[in-house]
Amino acid sequence: MQRVAIVDPSEASRESLRTLLLGVDFVWLEAECARYEYFFDVIEQQGEMPDLAIVALDADKAKALYMIGELSIKYPKLAILTISQDHQALLQSLQRGAKYFLTHPVGLEDMLAVLRRALGESSGSIGDQPSNGGMVRQQGAKQMIAVLGSRGGVGTTSICVNLAATLSTDPDNTVALVDLDLALGDADIAMEVNGMDNISIADLARNIERLDMNFLRRALVRHEGTGLSILRHPMEIQEIGVLHEGHVERILNLLKMSYSHLVIDLSKSLRPTDMMALRMADTILLTAQLELSSLRNVVRLIHLLGSEDLADKVRIVINRVGSDTVEEGISMKKAEEVIGKPITWQIPYDPKALIAARIAGEPLVRHNPKSRVQHAIVGLAQILAGKPAAPLVEAKSKAKWNPFGRK
Ligand SMILES: Nc1ncnc2c1ncn2[C@@H]1O[C@H](COP(=O)(O)OP(=O)(O)OP(=O)(O)O)[C@@H](O)[C@H]1O
Ligand SMILES: [Mg+2]
Repeated sequence: MQRVAIVDPSEASRESLRTLLLGVDFVWLEAECARYEYFFDVIEQQGEMPDLAIVALDADKAKALYMIGELSIKYPKLAILTISQDHQALLQSLQRGAKYFLTHPVGLEDMLAVLRRALGESSGSIGDQPSNGGMVRQQGAKQMIAVLGSRGGVGTTSICVNLAATLSTDPDNTVALVDLDLALGDADIAMEVNGMDNISIADLARNIERLDMNFLRRALVRHEGTGLSILRHPMEIQEIGVLHEGHVERILNLLKMSYSHLVIDLSKSLRPTDMMALRMADTILLTAQLELSSLRNVVRLIHLLGSEDLADKVRIVINRVGSDTVEEGISMKKAEEVIGKPITWQIPYDPKALIAARIAGEPLVRHNPKSRVQHAIVGLAQILAGKPAAPLVEAKSKAKWNPFGRK
């Protein structure tokens, strides 16, 4: 935990600064001061010097700049961050010893980025914090996975929910599932979740200008068994028009700072909101099954994604492998030929396990961790983490299923 002290004579902006900082787990707001001339006393009364002093300049620029000059002479190691709407004043504060600045009004994203830099530089430890506690994560561990169905009902949401829940059980991960299937999404039905406030992604969009980490956290409902957080689709279908791609960009960027993994369940309408998530994702899982219409759409979607320069991120996952009712006699090899891309992973057909888990309101990792679908989901999670997937035990009844793709 890094200690921060703020000085800002304006009560309103001090209040919003406080709210902003309260939403950041790795920061401890040690002292607040309403007068520039008392700031020395306030920080000297603390047991130790704070790691960072935040000085809002606009209430009285001359006094604030004078104090910064004194502060940087007396405590040359103290990092100083200044905030103002006046660029000239910000420049002067840098000349007097401040090291970082932000333009007023300050957004959470910018504040987090500066705090991360300022405090990371002072201690070198932000990225190495215990992964569960810290709100800002090591860059390398982050992953945004967008999951796109090649047609309705292929199992996209089932894969999203179970993959996200599986990733959540790793204590090194913090995972959020984002339901961008805005009109008809149902990710929140698959698991029993707790949420105090009924806030959806539409409410976040409506409040995008004053979106802070506290509000964002309140919008995410939590599944107790796995710790997975879910950002739900809008409650009313009429609300989907509220959301545009800029909202999605902002919300995903904020979530990225707080979670190690984002799993995004997309709609199949390829709305601008879906396209934004596809552009931002590190990996696009394209879900399909071994039947003609689904595979034809895989080809069409890869073509579309190729035109957006996104084809390299696509990984194809075939679901319901081994189902006589779904498959149309198309082999995995034939499917790969048609698609012109390797199939990354396969998930077996197991309606019993999925239905029972859904009725129980639990993901498979909790309800039936030994099921074949869950084994395949674990393998998918390992592959996405860049690890070789553990060999899976071939099921007796469905000898046709071969999780490693080509036969
Ligand atoms: N591997 C599987 N084996 C058996 N049943 C499955 C499998 N995957 C998904 N299902 C079942 O298929 C149905 C549709 O699944 P799901 O809702 O995940 O599909 P979807 O692609 O998200 O659908 P939509 O297009 O409506 O968003 C559900 O009843 C689910 O339990
Ligand atoms: Mg779905």
